[in-house]
Amino acid sequence: MEVLNTGVTGLDEMLKGGIPKEHIVAVLGSPGTGKSTFALQFIYSGLLKGENCIYLSLEESEDMIVKTASIFGWDLKPFITNKKLVLIRLSAMNIKVTAARVENDLPRLFESFGVKRLVIDPITLYEMMYESESGRREHLFNFAEKIREHGITVVMTSETNNNNPYNSKFGLIEYIADGVILFRQVRQNDLRSVTTVIEVSKMRRIDHSRDIKPYAITKNGIVVHSESEVFN
Ligand SMILES: Nc1ncnc2c1ncn2[C@@H]1O[C@H](COP(=O)(O)OP(=O)(O)OP(=O)(O)O)[C@@H](O)[C@H]1O
Ligand SMILES: [Mg+2]
Repeated sequence: MEVLNTGVTGLDEMLKGGIPKEHIVAVLGSPGTGKSTFALQFIYSGLLKGENCIYLSLEESEDMIVKTASIFGWDLKPFITNKKLVLIRLSAMNIKVTAARVENDLPRLFESFGVKRLVIDPITLYEMMYESESGRREHLFNFAEKIREHGITVVMTSETNNNNPYNSKFGLIEYIADGVILFRQVRQNDLRSVTTVIEVSKMRRIDHSRDIKPYAITKNGIVVHSESEVFN
C-alpha cells in the first residue's frame, strides 16, 4: 500500500511509514496543540517530493500561512510561484459563498490541478456553518465522497469538544475520517508542567501503534519523542 510520509518522523514510525494514500485523516486537538503546524509540515513534506498540494484555510490569510511556515524554515513561496502549492483562504463569515466554493469550486480544482495532498484547517469552521446536525452530517459526508473520487490524501484539523479532548467539537468527523490523530495536553502530577502527547486512535487498513508519545513544537516543527513513554 502506498503511504505518504507526514514529515514528522516519530509519527511516521507510529504509522508504519505514513498515512495510507487516499485516506482522510482528522487531526484533533485543543487550541495551541500544533494542529496547524502539523498540517503545514504535512504539506511541506509533499512539496519536497514534488507533489501538488492545496492548503485550504478557514482561519488565516495566505500571507499569514506563508509567514508562519517561514518561521519553521519552510519556504512556500517558490512552490506557489511554480504552481505546486495553492493556498486558499475562505472566510467562515461568508457562509453561502464559502459553502459553494468548498462544494463546487474545490472539486473542479481537484480535477484541473491533479492534487495529491489537501489540508483543511480547520474543518470545524465549515461544520459550524450548518445549524442542524443532519445538515452538517449530510454536507460533510458528501464533501468526503467528492474528495474520495479524486484519490487525494487529506489532513483536516479540528477543535476538540470542550468537555472531551478525545472527540471533535461535533463528534462527527472521526466517523467520516479513515484516520484520527489526537494531540493532547496532559498536566503532570506535580501540576507544574504540561506535556503534549500524540496518539493514533484510528487508522483504517494499517496496524498502527497504539502508544501515547510525547511531542514538542520546535523551531523545525513538530517532533515526536518516539523513544519516550508516557504514563497518565
Ligand atoms: N517557533 C516556534 N517554536 C516553538 N513553538 C512554537 C513556535 N511557534 C509556535 N509554537 C507553539 O505552537 C503553538 C501554536 O501551534 P498551532 O498554531 O499549530 O496550534 P493549533 O492547534 O493550530 O492552534 P489553534 O487551535 O489555535 O488553531 C503555540 O501556542 C506555541 O506553543
Ligand atoms: Mg490552528
